[in-house]
Amino acid sequence: MSHGDVSKPLSGMEMSERENLLLEPGYSILVSEGSIIKISPEQELLEEYAPDMEDGKSAQIKLLDVDGNAIIPGLVDCHTHLLWSGDRSDEIRLRQNGLSYQEISKQGGGITKTVEATRNASQEKLESIGRSNLSQSSNYGTTTIEAKSGYGLSVESEIKILKATNSLSGDNQNILPTWLGAHDFPKDKKVDEYMDELINEQLPLIAEKGLAKWIDVFCEPGWFNLEQTETLVKSAYKFGLKSRLHVDEFVDSGGLSLAAELKSCSADHVGFSNDDSRDKANKSGTMQVFLPGTPYVLGKHLGNGIIDCIENNWIFSLATDFNPNCQSLSLPFVSSLATHRIGIDPLTALVACTRNPASTLNSEMKSCVGSLYDGGPADFNILNSRYVDYWCQTPGVSPISKTYFSGNIVKP
Ligand code: NIG
Ligand code: FE
Repeated sequence: MSHGDVSKPLSGMEMSERENLLLEPGYSILVSEGSIIKISPEQELLEEYAPDMEDGKSAQIKLLDVDGNAIIPGLVDCHTHLLWSGDRSDEIRLRQNGLSYQEISKQGGGITKTVEATRNASQEKLESIGRSNLSQSSNYGTTTIEAKSGYGLSVESEIKILKATNSLSGDNQNILPTWLGAHDFPKDKKVDEYMDELINEQLPLIAEKGLAKWIDVFCEPGWFNLEQTETLVKSAYKFGLKSRLHVDEFVDSGGLSLAAELKSCSADHVGFSNDDSRDKANKSGTMQVFLPGTPYVLGKHLGNGIIDCIENNWIFSLATDFNPNCQSLSLPFVSSLATHRIGIDPLTALVACTRNPASTLNSEMKSCVGSLYDGGPADFNILNSRYVDYWCQTPGVSPISKTYFSGNIVKP
């Protein structure tokens, strides 16, 4: 997966070029102290690093036989709402009875309901929820995960969520926090009052404490409009936070076009964005992140955006959007939707879940993740198949036999 500059995303047909992206069977990976030292044909590596090898044993190296199975990079989930409390499983019946996401929200369900439960949860409780969610994500091969706040909507609760998120960073995954104070308007504040709180209270505190790397805004009619989104993002830029935004999930409100103008690292959902905005985003280096799990659980069409991106060489990624409605942290499942339902190539889906999303997160890490290369981090998954395509063809079941993060085995 390391063809060309590993820090850059791939687009269009590049994403499915097997001769550039895959190695023949028979290669091995030499790992030491968290990094990949060398990827070479097995015999060459053994001769160089384990000349004493006899009967599969050497004093110099430990050999792990993967039985010819495929090895893929650790997966990179660049859009999750990792930490929240409560339960909204009742909302499916409301939707089936014809209520829209917006109507459910107006009736006190939706984000508002999760905010109430999350405000009532202690930081310790959120950390324990976080550990359990991360073990799910790990089970499906994710080694780098972005995690948004956004179910606090007050100074105290947003900080509590971000502190809990930061405390989880550890042995099994890179965890990269985003501040999503602008996920909704809290019921106990007027719109102007909350905008003022976001800009003059939450943002300065979060930036000064270094609790988040990005700002996110739910830019959608009924939530934050274009003007409010622009104000928030520009205020965050003054504090050195970059942006990744929720845009055009339900309608084309010009959100992707704004994200491109603001040079956001990523614009996510983008289900209803128009082609001019998609082109503009690509030119500004704004990654379009599709979240097919969300229309799937909301009973909606998965859309043509992904195919448009492939046909026009526009950079794009896939992510889970794990949240109280869309309770999956499985990128293999999301990619099953993209391959089995939308018809994209499994290798294209893999690039969209590794190297491409990594290019929006790498600036905040020691080295580039999302591909396997000499000198890179030893984050990889061993599949239960010798075909790389298997990685997204076991919906509901993890396709992974073992995951390594930073050279250590991850126990789900
Ligand atoms: O990305 N759309 C905004 N936020 C989440 C869902 C929020 C919720 O329903 O709790 C999303 O889909
Ligand atoms: Fe989201």
